[in-house]
Parts: sequence; C-alpha cells; structure tokens
Amino acid sequence: MNKELFSNDEYREALEMLNQLMRDVEQISDADHKVLFYNVLQYFDSIHREPVLRIMKALESYPALKKEISEDETVQKLCTLYDIKTEEHPTKKEKVMDLIPVEELTYITPPKQKDWLELGNYQEFEDKKLYAKNYERVNFLVSRVGSEVFAVQNQCDGSLLPIDKGTLEDHFLICPWHGCKYDLKTGHSVNVNDKKLDTFQVEIEEDGLLKVEIAY
Ligand code: FES
Repeated sequence: MNKELFSNDEYREALEMLNQLMRDVEQISDADHKVLFYNVLQYFDSIHREPVLRIMKALESYPALKKEISEDETVQKLCTLYDIKTEEHPTKKEKVMDLIPVEELTYITPPKQKDWLELGNYQEFEDKKLYAKNYERVNFLVSRVGSEVFAVQNQCDGSLLPIDKGTLEDHFLICPWHGCKYDLKTGHSVNVNDKKLDTFQVEIEEDGLLKVEIAY
C-alpha cells in the first residue's frame, strides 16, 4: 500500500479546488438542491468527525506517535476543520474550507439579522411530514400538524446530526438517532433534561401564505 496518495502541495490544491466547488454550490438557486447538498455535507461531517475524534483520543496513549502525526500538514488541516486541538498544534480559528466553518455547522450562530422567509401556501405541506430547509446557512425544518405549522432547527441539541428523518407524534418530534423527544411548540425536550431546539416564529397569512422568521 502506498504511504501517501498525494503530496502536501497536491493536498493544498485539492483543498483549493474543493473551496471553489463550495463557492459554486453557494450559487445554486434551486433551494431544494441546496438543502439536499447541505444535508449531505452535514452527514459527511458527522461520520468523519466521530472517528477522527476517537483516533486522536486513542493516540493520547502514544505521545510520540501523536506528536509525529500532529505535525503532518494534512492532519493539522483536518484537525482544524473538525475543531480538534492537539497539544502540539492548538487549533487556530483558521478557516480551512469556505462553506463549512465548524462553528456554523455545529451550532446555529447567534442571530445577527432576521428575515421573513416565504414558503408558499401552508396547505402544500403534507400533514405531519418533516421538510428540511436552508436559508443563509441556517438548517431548519418545517412541519404542519393540522392547522398549525412549526419551524425548528434541523440539528439535535448537543449533536451535529440532523433530525428531519425523525418521526412525529402529534406535535412531538422524536430524534431518529437516540430517541430524544422534542415539543415542537417550545423546542424543549420532554424526555431529556436541558435539551432544546431553537424555534422559529411562524406566520400564516389570510391567503394561507406561510412565513418563517429566520435569524442568521
Ligand atoms: S442525536 Fe438526537 S438524541 Fe442523540
């Protein structure tokens, strides 16, 4: 097996190319495709982040090996991307890729600006179905339960994982990963203390137009 697939220079070029592709994706006008893409990214992030964290943790038992690995440029980039500190190279707030700054993928950022987003007639949303949406890098989900509509962050509290594949029981959303049950009216979990989803204000106009206020 080859020790390396490509050189550090080629790795940097690959990162630059990826950055360019990310910028191209930002220009996609079709909202559904954009949401799909962000969700794919989020899952990729999750399935990579966990083993990387475990590997780095396991390496703590082998300080010399950890030092050698941590000095590798590509490993440093990876650790920066996943916000993993190594003693030799504390994580800088360097942005490795344009589209997925870790802090924005991990948590919805503090509100800076608010927009009312129009999502069409609320009756076009099937009853008790979860719709993943994205606006200004805020991943959220919308669900209609009877004549009420709810909008909450599409990310389980304390996790990177999206929850739009969860199940609904009345106005309670059950996370597909470990079963945390959230009240969509308040965002609070009813079975795990201190877990909460950000909720977004929803309005239905007289003609049925559904609007969601997104803070970003
Ligand atoms: S990720 Fe939702 S309960 Fe664990």
